Amino acid sequence: MLTVTEAIRRRISIRRFLPTPVTEPQLRELLDTARYSPSGGNLQPWKVIAVAGAERDAVVTLARGAIANAGGAPPQEEGSDLVYPANLWEPYRSRRYQLGEDMYARLGISRENRAGRLAHVARNFEFFGAPVGIFFIIDGRMGRGQWAHLGMFMQTLALAAVDRGLGTCMQEFWGSLRETLHRHFALPETDLIYCGMALGYADPDASVNQLRSARAPVEEFAILRGF
Ligand SMILES: Cc1cc2nc3c(=O)[nH]c(=O)nc-3n(C[C@H](O)[C@H](O)[C@H](O)COP(=O)(O)O)c2cc1C
Repeated sequence: MLTVTEAIRRRISIRRFLPTPVTEPQLRELLDTARYSPSGGNLQPWKVIAVAGAERDAVVTLARGAIANAGGAPPQEEGSDLVYPANLWEPYRSRRYQLGEDMYARLGISRENRAGRLAHVARNFEFFGAPVGIFFIIDGRMGRGQWAHLGMFMQTLALAAVDRGLGTCMQEFWGSLRETLHRHFALPETDLIYCGMALGYADPDASVNQLRSARAPVEEFAILRGF
């Protein structure tokens, strides 16, 4: 068992997984732990759909079709734009740029290699090879507060996964198929698919899994007063 601090520091986004399965009891136990996440008013404003085996394959096939329809590029965002604000400003713009540069350097894909970059992006739609895909769902009528609480749930799940030797990658990329997935899972009108997550065992030999993305120092984001 890791300490909470160890789990926080060890968790990174995993973008290449081994095919080793994650069993239903494992997943249930993980969710059973994550459900202790806090939420305002204890609303617990989260739902998940987890797919493995043939159900995972069906989603991957659906996504491949969407990429083919979009001429090989990632499909345009479906439904509300929940990813980045338009014309991202500093310092966020540079942080995002840096992540991309560091990631593609690890993958050995140059800036000019547009096809290579697109192929990597498309691997999102294969859950980066993970045997389990999770979709996080919120009632579309919820407010910003509940969205934050859904985020806490996702982070709790990711940390609990680390404690069990599992890796995750949160995947807002799946939001580009928000409507298609909504239809696929025959969800109620009010449900909104926010984000996906790949879950499985990290490939220890993959360089991309060694990417330790930068963080701003405490002084850059925190104001401490009265100490
Ligand atoms: C809500 C959320 C959605 C994300 N979506 C994607 C995604 O679609 N594809 C991807 O490769 N990484 C995705 N990421 C991973 C981020 O790029 C990553 O968390 C960030 O660069 C920090 O790196 P770390 O997770 O390795 O610490 C997502 C992260 C979060 C929190």
